[in-house]
Amino acid sequence: MNEVSMHLRFLAACAIAQEAGQLVRRRFLERDEALELTFKGPQDYLTETDAEVEKLIALRLSQAFPDDGFFGEEGGGAFGASVWIVDPIDGTADFARGVAYFCVSIAFVHEGRTQIGVLYDPMAGELFAARHGGGATLNGRPIKVSAIDDPRKSIVELGWSPRAPFDDYLKVATRLNELGAGVKRRGSGALGLAYVAAGRQDAYCELHINAWDAAAAVLLIEEAGGWTNDFLTAQCLERGNRVIGCTPKLREALEIAMHV
Ligand code: IPD
Ligand code: CA
Repeated sequence: MNEVSMHLRFLAACAIAQEAGQLVRRRFLERDEALELTFKGPQDYLTETDAEVEKLIALRLSQAFPDDGFFGEEGGGAFGASVWIVDPIDGTADFARGVAYFCVSIAFVHEGRTQIGVLYDPMAGELFAARHGGGATLNGRPIKVSAIDDPRKSIVELGWSPRAPFDDYLKVATRLNELGAGVKRRGSGALGLAYVAAGRQDAYCELHINAWDAAAAVLLIEEAGGWTNDFLTAQCLERGNRVIGCTPKLREALEIAMHV
């Protein structure tokens, strides 16, 4: 794929993430507090807005790039040589419970490599964007990972979902605590990883996360000078993977801590 085609896709991803984010924001602000909460499974929230926003993103992408493939968290899809991987709302639980911490995530993967990663947090008005080999930005300004190299000074977010055994989560949390890290958890893996890229925390780890949650944000970390595991394998597209994204000097300690 030539440079012009890739650049057009980058510009489109930024515009579509913002348009979709504005829709998420509107729905969040007009949501009915008394709304009955719905679930896909235990601890797995579903709102009507997830599907509505995914449809909008799929429509815009198919209008602009009819030959590209599409895979979304809600509606699925197919993986081909050129595919968009989309999470319409990452942080759905917070969205559903009235907490303003969520984002739209859009990745473009060409021949197995993530080329474009864009995240938009509509409540903070923050657009995180990266192109493979082109650096990472927040609202147009370059970002980089922190210079923290000592776990005792680090803030590490350890993501959780019921897809991984809780005992393993406790094991990793205990090891991180023994290393002296400040361990935290918030409700959006995508934003947690983007915050590493922006130097707001020093690592994000999770024992299992899906491709749509993390593909875009992993590229942000790589392009912001950080280290990530080999996340987007063929197997990850089908079944998800573990993720580690951190400042380069924390890599070794975190790889050991995450070994369960
Ligand atoms: C979840 C969030 C959460 C992470 C989970 C994801 P959702 O996605 O990113 O922070 O720990 O692994 O499934 O349900 O908010 O789209
Ligand atoms: Ca998600």
